[in-house]
Amino acid sequence: TGLVTLDPGFVNTAACKSDITYIDGDAGILRYRGYPIEELAAKSNFIEVSYLLIYGELPTQAQYDEFADRIQRHTLLHEDLKQFFDGFPRDAHPMPVLSSAVSALSTFYQDSLDPFDQNQVELSTVRLLAKLPTIAAYAYKKSVGQPFLYPDNSLGLVENFLRMTFGFPAEPYEVDPALTRALDLLFILHADHEQNCSTSTVRMVGSSEANLFASISAGINALFGPLHGGANSAVLEMLEGIHANGGDVDSFVERVKNKEPGVKLMGFGHRVYKNYDPRAAIIKKTADEVLGKLGANDPLLEIALKLEEKALADDYFVERKLYPNVDFYTGLIYKAMGFPTKYFTVLFALGRLPGWIAHWREMLEDPARKISRPRQVYTGEAERSYRSIGER
Ligand code: CMC
Repeated sequence: TGLVTLDPGFVNTAACKSDITYIDGDAGILRYRGYPIEELAAKSNFIEVSYLLIYGELPTQAQYDEFADRIQRHTLLHEDLKQFFDGFPRDAHPMPVLSSAVSALSTFYQDSLDPFDQNQVELSTVRLLAKLPTIAAYAYKKSVGQPFLYPDNSLGLVENFLRMTFGFPAEPYEVDPALTRALDLLFILHADHEQNCSTSTVRMVGSSEANLFASISAGINALFGPLHGGANSAVLEMLEGIHANGGDVDSFVERVKNKEPGVKLMGFGHRVYKNYDPRAAIIKKTADEVLGKLGANDPLLEIALKLEEKALADDYFVERKLYPNVDFYTGLIYKAMGFPTKYFTVLFALGRLPGWIAHWREMLEDPARKISRPRQVYTGEAERSYRSIGER
């Protein structure tokens, strides 16, 4: 069988070549298609960044208008797909609702099953970018027992999503431009992160030539876990727990350092960033601004600041190069925006979608593509003989 290298968690194994995102974990650098994340965060918008990730270049005005217009025209969900939401329990976690609805898109668009049909790939790309915010808003509406709103295609993607989430059918919804801009920025910061767990999942499923919807649905399920996208909800639950215990940051940090089962400093640490997470730096800068603008005076923010200060000065975290990651402050912003804790990871999924699509497309276009099929080191029994049940 040849020589097999054991590398749990793929710490040292590159599974592909990629032109999309560059990370230097020691220097805290993140670039999409060569553009520094700081510049994109300051000057671009989520639709433009989606185009950049998927097509490799920033769009011209004409390309941008056409792309944005196509997305705007595909925001409606098939009426039969809306029935799906009634089948879930009212308190269903929105992540499996999201992945189930995306999986179901394969049944509504059966012409999309061939991943090499370029027209269908373009259509599926646009459908996903347009419909995922609608699906996400309906998952929220279902959870609070409120009526669904049809998309209003005179609005931009993020505004439309906020209106479908927080608006009511008979009332005009005033979309706050500061809120829209803040969410757009967070989507940009989440848009891609090279071969993370969910993106690798999308590539792996896609490597069997499964269609785009099936692959993205699998990626959403990978993102659900608390060590990945689920960390943004877990951070808030951790902060609430500390608050409920009287805000004692010191004893919580001791529990983390003693490695009490299940106790980690959520929102800290990263497989690749060993200096700082540039996304966290941008988010921290905007967190105060956004929280200030939204008039939120959250005691959890104070706990988060104390935790961060304490951890950054503590040998346990310094020796292990553990720094705040993208998820440390996002939960506080999402909470201030009015989203329930359970819903935070859905917002991560909306942001990560263009990255997943870009990687799926790059993988299928790669002439060196092979089905993903890792090897293993077998540690089980050597050959032995079957004994009938009465003899065991
Ligand atoms: N709190 C306490 N100890 C930690 C933490 C943490 N958050 N993260 C890592 N460590 C310790 C870990 O116990 C280990 O210690 P030791 O060497 O004594 O055994 C050492 O640091 C190295 O950690 P690791 O688990 O080998 O590192 P990894 O690269 O496998 O894991 C990680 C990376 C992000 C899964 C991990 O840091 C973690 O669980 N963090 C908390 C969850 C989190 O915030 N996830 C979001 C990641 S960023 C966005 C995303 O991907 O969604």
